[in-house]
Amino acid sequence: MDIKAQYEDLLPEIKQLVGDVIDSGRFILGPNVRALEVEVAASVGYGHAVAVANGTDALELGLQALGIGPGDEVVTTAYTFFATAEAIARRGATPVFADIDPVSLCLDPDAAEAAITERTRAVMPVHIFGQTADLRAFRELADRHGIALIEDAAQAFGATFEGYRAGSYGDVATFSFFPTKNFPAMGDAGMAIASSEEIAEKVRLLRFHGSRDKRVFEQIGVNSRLDEMQAVILRRFLPEVDGWNERRMAAAARYRELGLGEHVSLPEVAPGRSHIYHLYVVRTPAREQLQRRLKEAGVASAVYYGQPHHLQPVFRQLGYREGSLPVTEAASREGLALPMFPTLVEEQQREVVNAVRGAASAAA
Ligand SMILES: Cc1ncc(COP(=O)(O)O)c(C=O)c1O
Repeated sequence: MDIKAQYEDLLPEIKQLVGDVIDSGRFILGPNVRALEVEVAASVGYGHAVAVANGTDALELGLQALGIGPGDEVVTTAYTFFATAEAIARRGATPVFADIDPVSLCLDPDAAEAAITERTRAVMPVHIFGQTADLRAFRELADRHGIALIEDAAQAFGATFEGYRAGSYGDVATFSFFPTKNFPAMGDAGMAIASSEEIAEKVRLLRFHGSRDKRVFEQIGVNSRLDEMQAVILRRFLPEVDGWNERRMAAAARYRELGLGEHVSLPEVAPGRSHIYHLYVVRTPAREQLQRRLKEAGVASAVYYGQPHHLQPVFRQLGYREGSLPVTEAASREGLALPMFPTLVEEQQREVVNAVRGAASAAA
């Protein structure tokens, strides 16, 4: 990906805005952070937003605000960035991994429901690669079992489910604004969207050492504040994100038109959802050969989540083994991310498709 190209034109303005922050002398949790929280909640169309230092903290503080801790179980996916499972484990809770749905590659609601025990306190689907999980099914499941729904929406700002934007179904939803995300900061930044002001207030307390005023400490929290420079940059980018997402979607449509699907399986979009292609991940059983050939042809590619979390050494004691989650394991074996960013042009995509075609014919 070319992360700078999408905002190249905005850089003079960004430098001015950052300069204004420097001149103001207000660096942490100031007016830009407060305005960003209001603007992001308005953009999601739901909830109360609390800015934090990164997406991992948003997950962990969200879990803590919902009262999840030692002895509790949280059902989630093993096909995601490590932070999802790590946040659960850092709370002292146990991640319980259930399999994914083969179309969206997000946590499968039926598999998640089958994994619920009397210790389950929450279900945490991840909107992987930019497509939401089946949010209606997860909301109903959470309500039926009296557990919380946490959306890890780190990769899906602006993606929709039945017209509602990612983040509008969870008791808590979280975003990451890591610089390679589809809504990027220029450093670490994250956000929790809480369904109630009560939950939002808890996250607000926790991000600032469990204190409202630096004098009285009500809880053990952390230091997870967002700074004004990231906030002012994010505020400037927010009105651009939908346009960037549309360009990603157009690039995905072009890959299809150029015949990429003749050589590898293309990402699928489940009915009623939009996919904003934070990552464009194709599938092939001959992934290693394809990646090698692409490298020779000068085309970048990357494996995302080649070793799912249920098979990671750190979770060995949970007792999963190879074959425990077959759909997850197949996606981990076969997925390969190809170039995707808003300024990707047809000529570059032709090169990618030609390189994939060359690799396929060499293998035949
Ligand atoms: C699915 C998912 N969850 C959580 C995170 C954590 O976000 P951050 O890197 O901002 O801590 C990321 C990204 O890094 C992610 O992709």
